[in-house]
Amino acid sequence: VSFGDLIADVNPALIVVTTARNGERAGCLVGFHAQSSIEPAKYCVWLSKANHTFRVGQRSSHLVLHMLTSDDLRLAEHFGTLSGDDVDKFADLDVAIGAGGAPVLRQCPNRIVLRRTTMLDEGGDHVCAVGEVLEVAHGGPFEPLRLSQAAHLPPGHGAEERPEPPTEQAGR
Ligand SMILES: Cc1cc2nc3c(=O)[nH]c(=O)nc-3n(C[C@H](O)[C@H](O)[C@H](O)COP(=O)(O)O)c2cc1C
Repeated sequence: VSFGDLIADVNPALIVVTTARNGERAGCLVGFHAQSSIEPAKYCVWLSKANHTFRVGQRSSHLVLHMLTSDDLRLAEHFGTLSGDDVDKFADLDVAIGAGGAPVLRQCPNRIVLRRTTMLDEGGDHVCAVGEVLEVAHGGPFEPLRLSQAAHLPPGHGAEERPEPPTEQAGR
């Protein structure tokens, strides 16, 4: 029995996480995310150590979480298969500047703005970014884009591309 087969049946919803630091914009497709507190409202996303978004997000103050709908496969492909190491993913998109300079994708009406409080590195290939929910935008009921619709997409960076040494701390 494989872990992957079990998670495929759980079929998590996919989101695009964006952030910025000193004008450098970043964002990627994320399947690892969850609410982590009710009062105060908190939310977590897990960013791959291999990703441009992780490197920018490590030093940024805010994250914007865009909940994708079942019609957003093209946007998922854009953010999940390209890397900010090679291209500006925001160049051709309708983008507003949100809290902490984080790019807000106007085409996504369902969003959460987080003020990041914590980064938790458990030694795996992803790092947990925890934040307080500052703002919520809800465009109305929607059907989420789920892993089953996007599992065929080749990620811009594979999680195994994590730099050596494997943690930032180990590199100091
Ligand atoms: C279905 C799917 C789910 C993904 N889930 C995550 C995730 O939870 N966290 C993450 O950091 N990257 C995840 N990725 C990978 C990034 O979205 C991808 O490597 C992206 O191109 C990285 O862009 P960047 O280097 O500009 O940050 C996922 C990719 C796909 C196709």
